[in-house]
This record gives sequence, C-alpha cells and structure tokens, in this order.
Amino acid sequence: MIKRIVTFSVIVLLSFRLSYAVEGMWLPMLLEQLNEDEMTSMGMRISAEDIYSINKSSLKDAILLFGRGCTAEIISDQGLILTNHHCGYGQIQRHSSVENDYLTKGFWAMDKSQELVNPGLSVTLLVRMEDVTARALNGVKAGITEKERADLISSNIKTIEEEAIKGTAYGAKVRPFYYGNQYYLFITETFNDVRLVGAPPSSIGKFGGDTDNWMWPRHTGDFSLFRIYVNKNNEPADYSPDNVPYKPKNHLPVSLKGVEENDFTFVFGYPGRTQEYLPSFAVDLISNHKNPAAIRLREQRLDIFDEYMNQSDLVRIQYSAKHAGVANFWKKMIGESRGINRLDAVTKKQNLQEEFKAWALADAERSKKYSSLIAEFEKTYNQLLPYSVAETYLQEAGFSVEAIGYALRYRKLVEAGKANASADEINNLVKQLQDGVSGFYKYYHQPLDRKVFAAMLNDWASNQPINLTPVTLRNQKYKSYKEWADNIYGKTFLSDSNSVRKILNNYKARDYKKIEKDPLYKLGLSFFDYYQTQVMPVTGVLSARLDSLQRLYMQALMEFQPNKRFFPDANSTLRVSYGKVDGYTPMDAVNYGHYTTLNGIIEKDALGVYDYVVEPRLKEPFKDKNYGQYAAPDGTMRVAFIASNHTTGGNSGSPVLNADGHLVGLNFDRNWEGTMSDLIYDPDQCKNISLDIRYCLFVIDKYAGAGHLVNEMTIIR
Ligand code: ARG
Ligand code: GLU
Repeated sequence: MIKRIVTFSVIVLLSFRLSYAVEGMWLPMLLEQLNEDEMTSMGMRISAEDIYSINKSSLKDAILLFGRGCTAEIISDQGLILTNHHCGYGQIQRHSSVENDYLTKGFWAMDKSQELVNPGLSVTLLVRMEDVTARALNGVKAGITEKERADLISSNIKTIEEEAIKGTAYGAKVRPFYYGNQYYLFITETFNDVRLVGAPPSSIGKFGGDTDNWMWPRHTGDFSLFRIYVNKNNEPADYSPDNVPYKPKNHLPVSLKGVEENDFTFVFGYPGRTQEYLPSFAVDLISNHKNPAAIRLREQRLDIFDEYMNQSDLVRIQYSAKHAGVANFWKKMIGESRGINRLDAVTKKQNLQEEFKAWALADAERSKKYSSLIAEFEKTYNQLLPYSVAETYLQEAGFSVEAIGYALRYRKLVEAGKANASADEINNLVKQLQDGVSGFYKYYHQPLDRKVFAAMLNDWASNQPINLTPVTLRNQKYKSYKEWADNIYGKTFLSDSNSVRKILNNYKARDYKKIEKDPLYKLGLSFFDYYQTQVMPVTGVLSARLDSLQRLYMQALMEFQPNKRFFPDANSTLRVSYGKVDGYTPMDAVNYGHYTTLNGIIEKDALGVYDYVVEPRLKEPFKDKNYGQYAAPDGTMRVAFIASNHTTGGNSGSPVLNADGHLVGLNFDRNWEGTMSDLIYDPDQCKNISLDIRYCLFVIDKYAGAGHLVNEMTIIR
C-alpha cells in the first residue's frame, strides 16, 4: 500500500513538473489573495506587496504602457526605459533617412544631449487600481434591457472617473472584467516627452525577420532604449528643451545571474486581448472559418508584395513595415488554427458545455437561469457565422486594397460638400487631407496595389455567396479582374499624389462632385455602404446578444467550477503572468532546449538566408569568445530563452523577472506551437520568448560602446 502511494505521488509529481505552467494573466492587486502562495511555492522570494502596493514603492512603479500597444520598464534612476526594437520601430524609422539610416545602422546617443525627441509618443504608469463593481453596476436590476443597462453603467463610470481624479493631473479609466461581471478603476500618469536613446541595427534587433517570427529557436536582439523627460518638479510635461530626466519612484535592478531550466520567472506588463471563455461555436468560427479565409487572402497579398519588393529597393523600403505587419498576423493565425486543431479544442469546449448543461439541469433554480444558454449560443453563432466571415472578407480583401482604404478618407469631404457645409469646415477637411498626402504616397506603389486589387476582389467574389458581397463586386463589364483593375487605376485621380494635389490645392466647394464621380471612390463607398446596410445591422444585433450571453456564461462558469481560479481575459490592463524556464517538445522525437546562444547566430549566418545576415562586428567578440561579465557561467553568450509564462500581444517589451524581482529578460514573442493560447492554453506547448538581458547589455556595452548606459543601471552580480 505504501509503495503504491509512493509510486502514485512520483507520477503526480512527474506530470506536475512536466507541465508546471500556470495559465493566466493576473491582476496585480489580487496577487496576494489568489497567487502569492503558489508563486512562493514555485520559488519566488519576494512578496505580492513587493510587486504591487499602494502604500510603498513597488515593482509596478517601474512598469509602463508604451505607445499604443507595448510594454516598457524603467531601468535606471534617471528615467531610462527598455522596450522591444519592434515596439520602437516606428520612432527609429521616423528618425531615419538615407544619410542617417538608424534602422540599418542602429542609433546610440553618447550623452543626453543626443537623445531624440518623439512627438506623439507617450508612456503611462499605473498609479493605483480599485474594484468599483458595486458602483459601476449601481441601479442595474434584472429585467432591464441591454440598452438601459449599458446607458446606466456608462453614466456610473463617468461619475467614478471624474471623481477619482478631481484636482489631479492623473488620468482615470474604468474597465469591464469577466465580460461585464466586474469593473475596475485605473488611475494613471502619462508622460509625453519620451526620447530615443539607443537602438541596435536591424541585423541585431530584427535578426531572423519574418523567417523566425513566432518561432523558437530564436536569436533576435529585439530591444531599444528610451528616456522619460519631465519638468523641473519631476512632473509630466510636453516636450521642452528645459525638461530633465525623470526621477522614478522605482526602477528595476538588472541581474547578470541569468536563468536556468526550472527557474521561477514572472512577466509584468500589458497583455492586449485574450478570449479564453468562448464557447465551442466561437472557437470553431475563428479557427475554421475566419482564420483560413484571412490566411489565404494575406498569402496572396504577401506574394505580390514580395514580387515587387524583390524588383526594387525603393519598393522594398516602402513596403517593409507593411509587409512585416501583414506577415505577423498571417503567421499568428496559421499557428493558432493548427494549435486549436492539435488540441482538439472545439471538442474540449463541447465536452465542457455538456457537463455544464448537466449541472445546470440538476437544480431547478440553475435550470431557470442557465439551461438554454448553450443552445442560445449555438443558435446565435450559427446566425452570425456567414456575416462574420463576410466581415473578414471585407476587411482582408476589400479594405486591404490600399487605394480603396485611402479613397474612403475623402468621404467626409464629399458629405460636407453635399450638405453645404461652411467654408471653414470644408477648408479644415481639405487641410487634413493635404497633410496626409505625402504620408500615404511616400509608402505607396501603384502597380503593386493594382495587382492586389485584382487578386483580392477575384478571391472575394469567388469564395463568398452573392448575397454576402457588395453588388458592385459583380456584374462588372470587364473580362477579368485584372482588366477591371487596369481600367479603374487608369481613370482614378487617386492613382498618384500629383493628381490628388491638383484637386486639393485649388479646392472649390463644388469639387466634391469630381470626387464623387471617381470610379475608385465610388467602389470604395459601395463597399462601405454594403457594410453599413447589409452586414453591420445584423452583426450589431447578434454581437450585442452574444455579449449578454457571454456575461451570463462567465458568471455561470464561476458557479459551476467554484474551486477554479478564473483570471480575467486580457484587456490591455496591467497583469502578472508566472511560470518556469522550460523547453518543450513540439513534435514526436524533437526536443527544444530552453535557451539559444550566439553560436546559433553564426550557424544561421552560414545558411545564406536574407533574414540571417549577421552584423559583421558581432562576429569579432565571437571569435575570441570575449563576453566579459555578460557570459554565462559556461562561457557562452546566451541570446534568448523560453518559459511558461502566459502572454499575448501587448506583452512585447514586458520585463521578465526572477525570483528576487530582478530583470533577467525582455519578452518579445511566443512560440508558433503555442499561439492558440489567446483562445485556449496548453501548458505543454505555450511558451513566451524572451531576450536574455545579458545579451542586451553586451550589445549596449561591448558592441555599441555605450557602457555609460549600463553604468546608470543597478546591476546585480
Ligand atoms: N511576433 C511578434 C509580435 O507579435 C513580433 C512582431 C514583429 N516582428 C516581425 N518580424 N514582424 O509582435
Ligand atoms: N510580439 C508580440 C507583441 O508585440 C508579443 C507576442 C505575442 O503575441 O505573445 O506584443
């Protein structure tokens, strides 16, 4: 008997270790209550209060929302901040020119006077958060309509937000959690003077490019450095030459100790969006209907991009960011759908729903509330499916044609003309359009877009039923979509910046008639109208119904599984994920180790692939293996590592911290096999990919010669 117990617990322990990952992105404020014990048992040596506190300075005082969708962290007492290269890419690109090509060559400010100002870039700190569910739901009772509920809540929220920051310079936002079952208030402080300090060349910061994107093993030095500036009182201020470096309440110590397999780590940042509690029907819709259509359309678009980018350096530069953007989500969707199938996630969700139904029916009270929920979901998703796919086509085919998207920017001007708007209003609209002309055409290649037009519209018309496409997509008088494309791009004034400027520069009120008659404008408008009149009215009603079903389902799941800890889906609010450094087995007979080294970069270089061209100067220290204090104990230069922290888009740039709360890595991606974790998490396959901080410091210090930046940091040896 004793022996049996022993064998049993060994097995439990073994399987425990193999998948010792903790699903979830947790609220910093609730760590003490929900997660601290587990984190400690996994090896954490600090307390939940050290991570988030409103009474003393804590790690949260060093975590920033960067720009619109990334994370960054403060790493010195002079406001130095660290994020990914791909997060700072737009800023680096904007400072680049043919003479000073920082994208290609990198940029390093050798003192503060050389740091570069970035209009429009801001970073935001969380001051504190608070559960305001009761106040937000004040007055909401059973029986009111969804519309009444929404109006009531939004007026409650407005009051809460206003009161929270009265007399301060802070911002306030109340956000729904668990699909509107709970509400939290976030008080924030935003800084608008954020300067570029350093960026490695793309051959380091983007090493591996789209070839390696979403993949492990990985060797990308994906980081860039910025600095927050404030006024003399250490308060946020718009850019001024008199501003001084920010003195933060806290900054992250940087550890040279590195990580080894099984070490505890946590990620602290701003994950954007997950949907972990969807019913099977929604997962099927995304994985088997929307993703495949979007993947196929993007593939054709990328092929056309490649064709033209290979022919011309100018086009390659014009389309590099667009290509990266289209390719990024294309590859993500492929991984996601594969992961869903491999996990048999739809069946898993169906099984859960069956158990749930049985539970609901077993009690009269529950039965009343929940017994028809799954059937309602099914009915509503069945109705939604064709319209939701229609939306995918509209987005991925119709509006992915750049000239069509651009043409629709003229809609307001035409409407203003038709409505006899005032000269002021019209001048304003014309001015806005004029301001946008060079930004659009600088990165536009008409022959490429014309080919995209033909391919996208052809695919759309071939794969969607007639009643779910705009009438203008069919019954054209041309023999082929190519002929149509040639004709329409030949006639439209939107084909090049000169004809656009000609209209805008001497614009008269009645000129809206010229725009209105333009064939490309007319087509774009017909797509837009089709969406407004035929798709949106249906999806709008169905989505509202699904919102309320999902809210009820979330509440019901929590009752159904009272012992389960539910984390709220990511919604771009500050979260903590935790796990262990760990390799994985992506397929039979293949095991992936948990770290990569500089050796791997040199190996990839030898393959002769475009994305694997190694920065020549990186090869020098490699020859004599002279990595100084940044070497791992075994003498190697560690470049990246993986761990089982549950992350998603938005976690880019998030700090990866060790058991002592010291910075050991910089999150920048997930593994391909694990990208379904936005819908369903698999502890065996889902890993986050991080830059080893020692490689980052090595590049700053030894490669760039910017050791003064390392000297600013608090280094733990
Ligand atoms: N996959 C990462 C993320 O989702 C990196 C994207 C940027 N890199 C690229 N090669 N496109 O944002
Ligand atoms: N690269 C992603 C980002 O920009 C992170 C990867 C992911 O989706 O986990 O946030």
